[in-house]
Amino acid sequence: MEIDLRSDTVTKPTKGMKQFMFDAAVGDDVLGDDPTVMALEEKAATLFGHESALFCPSGTMTNQIAIKVHTNAPGEVVCDSLAHIYRYEGGGIGFNSGLSVKLLEGDRGRFSLEQLKAGIQPDDVHFPETQLVSIENTCNKGGGSVWKLQDIEQIASFCREQKLPLHLDGARLFNALVATSVSAEEMGKHFDSISICLSKGLGAPVGSLLIGSHQFIKKARRIRKVLGGGMRQAGYLAAAGIYALEHHVERLKEDHENALLIANALKQKSFIKSIAPVETNIVLFKLAEDYPADEFMASLAEKGIHVVGMGHQTIRMVTHLGIGTKQMNHLIDQLEKL
Ligand SMILES: Cc1ncc(COP(=O)(O)O)c(C=O)c1O
Repeated sequence: MEIDLRSDTVTKPTKGMKQFMFDAAVGDDVLGDDPTVMALEEKAATLFGHESALFCPSGTMTNQIAIKVHTNAPGEVVCDSLAHIYRYEGGGIGFNSGLSVKLLEGDRGRFSLEQLKAGIQPDDVHFPETQLVSIENTCNKGGGSVWKLQDIEQIASFCREQKLPLHLDGARLFNALVATSVSAEEMGKHFDSISICLSKGLGAPVGSLLIGSHQFIKKARRIRKVLGGGMRQAGYLAAAGIYALEHHVERLKEDHENALLIANALKQKSFIKSIAPVETNIVLFKLAEDYPADEFMASLAEKGIHVVGMGHQTIRMVTHLGIGTKQMNHLIDQLEKL
């Protein structure tokens, strides 16, 4: 049995999702008349209590568009040193928006208000002007760590005082919402823009949404076109997103429970040095120095278990809708035998 824990992006559309995609009404979304794309955008904006949304091919694109629209070079964006926008978007902040980045050293991706205050540049020509603050919830490289709503509230209120836009990279935001029982609307009101991914835990094959005000999304639509992200009969893909939002949010709980089961099985092993607290669907752990990570991953691969390395001796396993009871039973059995 193949068990793919490399990421929650590996999911394949379910039968129900495929049927829903197949039946979608479509138009030309660049010309603005694809009814299914419009329905998805409306649904997402309403869910988060915002005015408008934009369907894009990827979370990298929604984040990069948001950064571009909120800023005006030269300037600086503030984020955690683990942030996806900084680490894993190919240097896009510099390339697309001409900005420098102020990195904060938070707790597994979550920085404090004090750290943010210290990271804002003084009003002095020697320094880049701070133009945007971005947080990531859950934080991927933090091991699926979840921000406390109270910390977000404090940061959001400071950003409002400072007239600094606040962006949320919510590639796995629904994992955070389900884990903390916070509603999308409650979360949404603290941000000027939100990126959510449909192609991760929610199980759609493609797609992300950028959410914000009418004016913000109007500008974002222009940038999407410039980047070549305008798609034509995109309603087939948007249908998968609608289906995912309607059927695959509540079930994220199962992924979180499965991640805990995996962590508990790993905990017993002498070759595991440490495991980051499991808060959602990501298990991030360090191997003892005398067990090379490559060897460990190769031995798992022989058993059909696929994982990824995330830096020195660090391994990531991600649960998702392709990992059900059958896969979990087999996986735990295999892990126990290691
Ligand atoms: C936190 C975070 N943000 C953004 C992205 C980018 O998403 P995409 O792969 O759709 O470009 C990812 C992808 O894994 C992610 O983990």
